[in-house]
Amino acid sequence: MRFARLLVIGLPLSAGFSVRPLVSKRPPYHPAPLSMSEQQQDAPKTYPPPNAVPDGMKTYEAMHKQSLEEPDTFWGDAARSTLKWFRDFDRVSQGGFDTGDVAWFTGGQLNACYNCIDQHLPQRAKQVAILHEGDEPGVVTKITYEDLLGQVCRMANAMKELGVKKGDFVTLYMPMVPEAAVAMLACARLGAPHSVVFAGFSAEALRDRIVDANSKWVFTTDEGRRGGKTLHLKSIVDKAVEDADCVEKVLVITATGAKVPMGKRDVQMSEMLPRMRPYCPCETMDSEDLLFILYTSGSTGRPKGVAHTTAGYLLYTGMTTKHAFGLEEGDVFACVADVGWITGHSYIVYGPLVNGATSLMFESTPMYPNHGRYWDVVQRHKVTQFYTAPTAIRALMSCGPEIISDYDLSSLRVLGSVGEPINPEAWRWYNEHVGKGKCHIVDTFWQTETGGHVMLPLANVTPTKPGSCSFPFFGIEPAVLNAQTGEEVTGNDVEGVLAFKRPWPSLARTVYGDHKRYMDVYLNPYKGYYFTGDGCHRDSDGFYWITGRVDDVLNVSGHRIGTAEVESALVLHPAVSEAAVVGFPDPIKGQAICCYVTFVSGYTESPELLKELVKQVATHIGPFARPGMIVGTPGLPKTRSGKIMRRILRKIAEGEADKLGDTSTLADPSIVEGLVEKANALL
Ligand code: WT7
Repeated sequence: MRFARLLVIGLPLSAGFSVRPLVSKRPPYHPAPLSMSEQQQDAPKTYPPPNAVPDGMKTYEAMHKQSLEEPDTFWGDAARSTLKWFRDFDRVSQGGFDTGDVAWFTGGQLNACYNCIDQHLPQRAKQVAILHEGDEPGVVTKITYEDLLGQVCRMANAMKELGVKKGDFVTLYMPMVPEAAVAMLACARLGAPHSVVFAGFSAEALRDRIVDANSKWVFTTDEGRRGGKTLHLKSIVDKAVEDADCVEKVLVITATGAKVPMGKRDVQMSEMLPRMRPYCPCETMDSEDLLFILYTSGSTGRPKGVAHTTAGYLLYTGMTTKHAFGLEEGDVFACVADVGWITGHSYIVYGPLVNGATSLMFESTPMYPNHGRYWDVVQRHKVTQFYTAPTAIRALMSCGPEIISDYDLSSLRVLGSVGEPINPEAWRWYNEHVGKGKCHIVDTFWQTETGGHVMLPLANVTPTKPGSCSFPFFGIEPAVLNAQTGEEVTGNDVEGVLAFKRPWPSLARTVYGDHKRYMDVYLNPYKGYYFTGDGCHRDSDGFYWITGRVDDVLNVSGHRIGTAEVESALVLHPAVSEAAVVGFPDPIKGQAICCYVTFVSGYTESPELLKELVKQVATHIGPFARPGMIVGTPGLPKTRSGKIMRRILRKIAEGEADKLGDTSTLADPSIVEGLVEKANALL
């Protein structure tokens, strides 16, 4: 660790899951997220839910059992009672993991936007659907269900006029303004799958995603605001679409009102929308029609367009929102993620709205204008459920808990955590200082590919242990596998990799345009299972503990970044010959990025060059992927067959050069000796 710190070249914390660079210089509470063995030592206490419903666990167990023993009855009933159908389905589920031909509710027809808005109008026309808290405190927009229908319909009609048709892909590059949700729902209304690209991605990353989806339409805003800073979104889009010939129109929504250059393909939506009729009929969609794709990183290759379909996704996100957070009438549900990630799709837009809840959308950061902002939002809007990421909690912890007592947080009942394993110390801080011991802490494990929570405590039902995501949701059958043999490890107090034994409704159906890749990444590694890519431990009480990715995927402030993407960005620089990227522990971000690079002859390592390489990654991917450390080396440690030995690079970055393990297969041991020497000299 010390070696790692010494090599860090003075870099700011990247903007994470709504986390801004820290104002405070106080040392973090905990040096690093705990390793699994530490979690175990640290774990004994079980917390009962503060407002436990009688026999909750018994009911959960019975329902979970039914969901596995009679899945068609369980899911068929759930789908009919949760969703409104234009046509009932013929079959509940079909297909499986052999070829990845999974399909749910076939024969059924529905529309996701209808389910999120229209179905609620008889009871909730005047209820707030989207409660938007702007970047500046107290700049609030309330959109009722009735208003939301009007706004979505105007947007959908404008899109139709511009030529958007059912089946067309629409890319969104938007800040956290209400129009981001409105545009997503308008896409759903027209049956045009959306592809939301997080507004922290660079122009190049955006272009790659537009081109991969062959998207003719791109939504953006003039600018965005976040933490008092301006995001120049339109100009990034201009750069991205320069050589993306597939793009016909860029739909520019007014957010700050700044004057931005408008080109031939650009459409000023503020001029178009007022002319539009505030009603637009819904397209009738089949259950398995695509609702959206969302790009995410894997261990190899380019980002994958993870594809989600309509009925299964909507049902599952609706049910998990309800059960994970114990939704009740009148609740104000606040998921402070960004709609650019799956968390925002499932738990800001679709999950809360299909339940007819009030969903709070937060445009700012936990640190703006100071580190009491979350609590200010909770107090002013009387938030009942609050959902954030461990990285944000750790950042706030490092500022101290004092500021929290300035706010009345008594409206809170459930506190959620998502995105990475939560270290027990952060869990307890969240529980004690924010929840005052009266809230249920729900640590929800899931992935872009799972669509919704797969392992989680159910609010007011499941007892919790700090750092454990507890038990499976209905219909989820987890398995711990021996990573090497692929055999299932049964019984308790075991570890291995986490897999699932059967499909569930919101499982991603494919990688857009590349089903083989879907099979190779998720379904082929262990035949008969969906492979998560995460390590896990099932403790002696049967609680599940996620121990982090076992592949080359990094989790930096809850942002998922593939090491291969960072490596590709680095080797595009003329000075770089080869690059190998690994993660190392970071007290706030969970993980930070360490890059080992070899230089093309004629280039020598210098602080300026290293800074340039950091910029290189920020430009090719986005500022959130900025490396925390870059190490120049004359060569990379490789096996005799030429494979880079990342395990060794990881150990060196973690400051554990004394625990390299077996190095006998190295082609040139002197390279490692050189790197270790560098380490020893610095330690
Ligand atoms: C990866 C998925 C799911 C929404 C946000 C991230 C890690 C996610 C947890 C958790 C431990 C977690 C896993 C997973 N992860 N939630 N509660 N405990 N790890 O979605 O970008 O698709 O990343 O995030 O490593 O595989 P994503």
